[in-house]
Amino acid sequence: MCGIIGIVGTEPVADRLIDSLKRLEYRGYDSAGIAALQGGHISRRRAEGKLRNLEEVLRQSPLEARIGIGHTRWATHGRPSVANAHPHATTEVAVVHNGIIENFRQLRDELLASGANFESETDTEVVAHLVTRELRAGLSPTDAVAAALPRLQGAFALAFLFDGDEDLLIGARKGSPLAIGYGKGEMYLGSDAIALAPFTDTIAYLEDGDWAVLRAKGIEIRDCANHRVERAAQKTTATAFLIEKGAFRHFMAKEMHEQPEVVAHTLAHYLDMANETVQLPELPFDFAKLERISIAACGTAYYAGLIAKYWFERYARLPVEIDVASEFRYREAPLPANGLAIVISQSGETADTLASLRYAGQEKQHLLAVVNVPTSTIAREAHAVLPTLAGPEIGVASTKAFTCQLATLAALAVAAGRARGAISAEEERALVHALVEVPRLMNRALDLGPDIEHLARSFAKTKDVLYLGRGTSFPLAMEGALKLKEISYIHAEGYAAGELKHGPIALIDENMPVVVIAPHDAVFEKTMSNMQEVAARGGRVILITDEAGAKHAALETEATLVLPDMNPFITPLVYAIPVQLLAYHTAVAMGTDVDQPRNLAKSVTVE
Ligand code: F6R
Repeated sequence: MCGIIGIVGTEPVADRLIDSLKRLEYRGYDSAGIAALQGGHISRRRAEGKLRNLEEVLRQSPLEARIGIGHTRWATHGRPSVANAHPHATTEVAVVHNGIIENFRQLRDELLASGANFESETDTEVVAHLVTRELRAGLSPTDAVAAALPRLQGAFALAFLFDGDEDLLIGARKGSPLAIGYGKGEMYLGSDAIALAPFTDTIAYLEDGDWAVLRAKGIEIRDCANHRVERAAQKTTATAFLIEKGAFRHFMAKEMHEQPEVVAHTLAHYLDMANETVQLPELPFDFAKLERISIAACGTAYYAGLIAKYWFERYARLPVEIDVASEFRYREAPLPANGLAIVISQSGETADTLASLRYAGQEKQHLLAVVNVPTSTIAREAHAVLPTLAGPEIGVASTKAFTCQLATLAALAVAAGRARGAISAEEERALVHALVEVPRLMNRALDLGPDIEHLARSFAKTKDVLYLGRGTSFPLAMEGALKLKEISYIHAEGYAAGELKHGPIALIDENMPVVVIAPHDAVFEKTMSNMQEVAARGGRVILITDEAGAKHAALETEATLVLPDMNPFITPLVYAIPVQLLAYHTAVAMGTDVDQPRNLAKSVTVE
């Protein structure tokens, strides 16, 4: 959701800003730009579209500078264009921004009235003009920023560069993440540790309301009350190497194929594989005493939470409320005295999920985060963190982070069941044994690739697809529909199979494929009845099942994808793979931009 970077240093910065933006491109990729002081004055290079366009602009018109800021954009206010690309600048100051300035209309009117000349449709440009007005009134750069920041409502991470001062960058954060990097005779600002990894492994995270004055030889940090504060620097393990696709055509393909390994790694973290028991790190609450769990998350992470609800209720007899985070944060839900709030997030920066965590904190809940980025804001604000060890996920469509979230939540549900006496030691062993089998079964699921690739050719010609499932296959049906929508742009819906006759059955015709996710579990026969209803109306059925299910299905399908038989507990982890492969191969057949689909960004730090 926009990535920002800043370097105040001693060596040329243009190439290094670009290098960093490549690492931030997952946050947004509809335009990009850099501003630097060349001959002491602000000079900008900006381009619409992917970063390679900016590289081309720089090739034609290079920048010689030792201080600069950069930005990769995911549009919120104003369509993607060069004029709307950051940095926004006046002759005095240039600024890059991640977030949304909510009162920008009011500020823009005020600034227009005092003579400011706007060049873009963005909310960000008001920040440049606000600071400029203070500078023209005679304030120093630091005083001008100090005067402007309290006027801004909304969420922001900002970096400022000032004309004529080659030893000054200012960064500020409220609601959006911003890290400070410490170099040798250089200082850096960036949206995350990954952006700063080529330059330094020593990072400090600004806290909400902090702003920082960076010079090549040091930094001064102030809090929202303008008091000097120290923020501890820490060593990060973020890798300095750009993550490569290897032999794969897309990051998504690579990440799908990594799943057996990263899920095994995640499970090994939470299970005692040899003794077939769960072994979680110590948690600051007692499952036996909990009244209820409240889960909040967005998108794919929300579907992981929905699957976990089935597990917590079934195996731990623990009631679970779950909501999409954008609703939870405003719903004013009463939360019980001894309640646990779980937030789930790959990035750990999703604005709505973070706000849900904070709401649950105000409601005195125990706060547990399941996150993939251990240095993220959500990880830092939760009382306890269960990391998903998926490694960096670059493809915008979440795959391996999802299955690692499921692996973590499955282990947590078994631990909860044991603590509450809801499962016996023998049942625990059976469940853990099933989890240990997951990586092997995932490899078998990946073997379906060629069949799915073949099937995807006909999918690529359809306009709408319906996904059906019951039990934990219902959230997976919604996840399947989401995956297909986001990367192939084909309209898809996921439904509880039992809901079919309450409306969606009206859509069935000979054109619309219906993907039925039906492992041979306790509700298999019920799902088969729903499949019959589709077939009876001439619908095209694609069945994803197991060997037992294929034997009992007794129905002509357009295609049947057969997985090995497995414990119903683990089916969502394994069935996720054919569902992801179907979306992937359909998108490839259609020729869409699989890793960076239109309008999306990897990390959604605005609401
Ligand atoms: C879909 C997808 C999104 C994210 C959602 C939450 O493939 O990736 O739906 O799951 O934006 O993001 P995180 O997990 O970073 O909070």
